[in-house]
Amino acid sequence: MENKKARIAVLVSGGGTNLQAIIDAEKSGILHSGTVALVISNVRSAYALQRAADAGIPGMWISKKAEGGQEGFERKLASVLEEQQIDLIVLAGFLAILSPAFTARYDHRILNIHPSLIPSFCGEGFYGLKVHEAALAKGVKVTGATVHFVNEIPDGGEIIFQKAVEILDGDTPEILQRRVMEQAEWKLLPAAAEKISAQIVAARS
Ligand code: GRF
Repeated sequence: MENKKARIAVLVSGGGTNLQAIIDAEKSGILHSGTVALVISNVRSAYALQRAADAGIPGMWISKKAEGGQEGFERKLASVLEEQQIDLIVLAGFLAILSPAFTARYDHRILNIHPSLIPSFCGEGFYGLKVHEAALAKGVKVTGATVHFVNEIPDGGEIIFQKAVEILDGDTPEILQRRVMEQAEWKLLPAAAEKISAQIVAARS
């Protein structure tokens, strides 16, 4: 029997360039052991939802407020993931907190992309441009991106892939963010989605 692909849910909060990289990787065949079955945003206006719609992928917004807070949000999220038979969760620019109870339920089934070489510039409060501002302030000559499993420690899970990116004279946080996205994030996340999807499919047979 042809092994069914792993069903992937991508969780987003913003522009969705990492989601787009995964969508493009599925189109080009780089991602072939898994398929993006659902995109979930905690932000109603996230452009990532438009990218899902443009790609014909079901998308939805889950409002923490409407669900009555963190617990309700995670209950709704878990029920949607269950209903959609999701095998792998990919956090792509997802900025909401997931509780230890939630991450324990999906042990080694949640991936995250962080825009630095963990353990540098990571953990509480390090997200988005703040990560690149800290790298520039420290004066490091090399930064990069890390894909890791998500556990109860912010950016603390087992590292899957890393890729180094050079910092150049005159870099602003915005210029550096773009280079890290182009040269590292958009390559590592699809590759990690494929690697873990293939492991999930192989474990079934
Ligand atoms: C970016 O800072 C990226 O480094 C991080 O999340 C932010 C938004 O990414 N992973 P995206 O464009 O929404 O994928």
